[in-house]
Amino acid sequence: MTIVGTEYLYNIISNQKMSQTNGSLLGRLMLAGIISLSIMFFWFTPPKNCPLPLPRPEQNKSAKRKSSFPDIVEDKPVLLLWVWPENYRFDFSDCKKFYNIDGCQLTDDRSLYTNADAVMVYHRGISWDLTNLPPSPRPPFQRWIWLHLESPTNTQKIPGLENLFNLTLSYRHDADIPVRLKLNTRKKPDEQFVIPKKDKLVCWIVSNNAAVTGVGTRNQFYQELSKYIPVHLFGKAYAKFLDHTEYYPTLASCKFYLSFENSIHKDYITEKINGPLAAGTVPVVLGPPRRNYENFVPGDAFIHVNDFPDAKSLAEYLLQLDKDDEAYRRFFNWRKYLSPTPHLIQQTQEFILAICTACDHIARHREYKEAHDIYEWFFN
Ligand SMILES: *[C@@H]1O[C@H](CO)[C@@H](O)[C@H](O)[C@H]1NC(C)=O
Ligand SMILES: *[C@@H]1O[C@H](CO)[C@@H](O)[C@H](O)[C@H]1NC(C)=O
Repeated sequence: MTIVGTEYLYNIISNQKMSQTNGSLLGRLMLAGIISLSIMFFWFTPPKNCPLPLPRPEQNKSAKRKSSFPDIVEDKPVLLLWVWPENYRFDFSDCKKFYNIDGCQLTDDRSLYTNADAVMVYHRGISWDLTNLPPSPRPPFQRWIWLHLESPTNTQKIPGLENLFNLTLSYRHDADIPVRLKLNTRKKPDEQFVIPKKDKLVCWIVSNNAAVTGVGTRNQFYQELSKYIPVHLFGKAYAKFLDHTEYYPTLASCKFYLSFENSIHKDYITEKINGPLAAGTVPVVLGPPRRNYENFVPGDAFIHVNDFPDAKSLAEYLLQLDKDDEAYRRFFNWRKYLSPTPHLIQQTQEFILAICTACDHIARHREYKEAHDIYEWFFN
């Protein structure tokens, strides 16, 4: 019911950008190498009476195509996506493209059901009478994955699922398959980071404002905060819709960004903090306690609303930082040793990270496993 725009997970990582850059550089180097080798070859062509070298075995292309590639594909476990979450389809090759994950064979072809090593079932796609679940008998080797990214506030307990699954997939750190985009450490300090130019003080993008999704707490805090400091509002909820191409540039132009979660739960720390971290903006977080944030993000990279007795003193602190460049700059010290990864921001990309993470898990783990009482685990 919630979710419009980007109510989803603060997630992952990959050195995708870097590997692409390296890849094209390598490609160019190789091309240059080949060209110079060919020139040398023609330059130094041996006299006609020399015996020609025998063709090397790997030059037999038809043999190569037959032997190696299909074998590798067969080795990969098959992960069947039972339904497309919210019908947001994407190309399965995106897992390789964005996260360098290709350890499983992802498919949405139900005719592969009896052969699927794992089946992923989207919680919100399950009907109340359970008739749209995969059929029985269930192959004995097959594991079912419960795919659910919402917080308990936004979760309906569909009866009958409690002991059906083998693996849970969630934003929760203690899920069998936790989904999250993390900050990457870097060994060589990066001295290059420059804080983007700012022309706004505090910004907030709000796409969902439906009371049922638990947004009451954050709205109340915002109301109070905006009495003492101006806040630039964007997003569907305020009729100032931002195109996805404007998301990162807009964030970058603000000194502070309100990373307010819709509901407050342990580990429910979403893309709302990843956005500003990736854009070069200081997140002001409202969500689980600071200690929980610090499991994933260094404590000096963000401001927590609970660090202040009330919204007024938070506003005063932000206004004070606005005049103190030195103090403001310290919020970016972490950039030297950590690098953020921008998350995917188009709505139809909402589940790519989760599905790819499941693929990666299935490729690495084949153990027997049962997930009992998933609701008891999830709601408590
Ligand atoms: C190339 O491989 C094909 C298929 O394995 C084989 O029939 C053919 O004899 C090979 N040719 C050479 C030149 O080795
Ligand atoms: C998967 O979980 C179900 C339900 O708990 C169980 O019956 C089945 O044996 C498990 N299978 C595997 C391969 O883990």
